[in-house]
Amino acid sequence: MTFAARITGTGSAFPPNRVTNVDLANELAKLNVETSDQWIRERTGIVERRYADLSKDEIPNASLAAAAAEQALEMAGKTAEDIDQIIVGTCSPDTLLPSTACRLQHKIGARRAWAMDINAACSGFVYGVVTATQFIMTGQSRTVLVVGSEVLHPYLDWQDRGSCILFGDGSGAAVVERAPEDSPQRILSWNLSSDGQYGDLLRIPPFYSEENPFSDELSCKNSKMLMNGREIFKVAVRTLTQFALQVLDKNGFSIEDIDWFVPHQANQRILEAVAQRLKLPAEKVLINVDRYGNTSAATIPTILDEAVRDGRIQKGQLLLLDAFGAGFTYGAMLMRW
Ligand SMILES: CC(C)(COP(=O)(O)OP(=O)(O)OC[C@H]1O[C@@H](n2cnc3c(N)ncnc32)[C@H](O)[C@@H]1OP(=O)(O)O)[C@@H](O)C(=O)NCCC(=O)NCCS
Repeated sequence: MTFAARITGTGSAFPPNRVTNVDLANELAKLNVETSDQWIRERTGIVERRYADLSKDEIPNASLAAAAAEQALEMAGKTAEDIDQIIVGTCSPDTLLPSTACRLQHKIGARRAWAMDINAACSGFVYGVVTATQFIMTGQSRTVLVVGSEVLHPYLDWQDRGSCILFGDGSGAAVVERAPEDSPQRILSWNLSSDGQYGDLLRIPPFYSEENPFSDELSCKNSKMLMNGREIFKVAVRTLTQFALQVLDKNGFSIEDIDWFVPHQANQRILEAVAQRLKLPAEKVLINVDRYGNTSAATIPTILDEAVRDGRIQKGQLLLLDAFGAGFTYGAMLMRW
């Protein structure tokens, strides 16, 4: 017997510390790095982002994930004890070991669940929902908590004004549950892919000392994000468009059938270019990059949660999720809400 899967609850959490473009420009000026509110707004659409307070919490990623998860569970009418499986999409875990998913499991008291992280960078949430769906379809799991969660700002290179202005911290969660195979409300289909040839366009090297493996000193300065923004921009526009069209085609839908386009929030100009190529009206594109920047795996679940809670997303509507991230990883998904 096979089943379908559907999202029954969503949640999101951001650190309270709001960093506007002006705040960031002032901080960068102290490092002799020049930027401005105007440049950031015009080139990215970002106005502000949030940074977790690392001095107050040793595991800020797991804490944000727990806050988002609790909201999602409440919306779904579930408790932590109901969860069979936890998947956290993250590329900025609080610790390499243990996983953020295990930290989260402990924090919310999901004692029955088994837990793992997925590192698919900004595609982590979509990869997580697809993985959850597989376990649900085969009957292995009934209730899966999927979270996209990042505290990326400690990895930013403040000398690189092209990348450090883009990213923020945040967490978004979804409860994915078993549904009857013919349920009208369900995850309909997806298209995942990866292409390692673009690995060096966006990377965070490890922080050990390469010169002396026996050194006690970890070389944190090496562990900063390296990004080729211009090249990523081109690949992102091309592949987001291509994956969206492929997943629509696979299901016999056309772009007019879409009620909401839920893309990864990397840069407002990328979203505009993709919408234009897809011939999708701007009103159908969900956007939060202006307020939170690029929160990597958290962008899609947080904007999804916002639109569910404010009533834009309604039962029966068709949603197209579309992600790309370092790796490169790609993932598009269609669901009937
Ligand atoms: C990074 C990005 C914002 C840069 O915007 P862009 O319009 O491509 O700008 P360019 O890199 O061509 O740089 C144009 C100029 O602005 C300058 N510049 C870059 N960042 C700047 C900043 N924060 N403030 C002011 N000037 C800046 C550059 O130095 C360059 O100056 P030059 O012409 O004198 O050399 C854009 O390429 C982008 O968003 N790429 C995608 C990145 C991404 O999505 N990463 C995450 C993937 S999940």
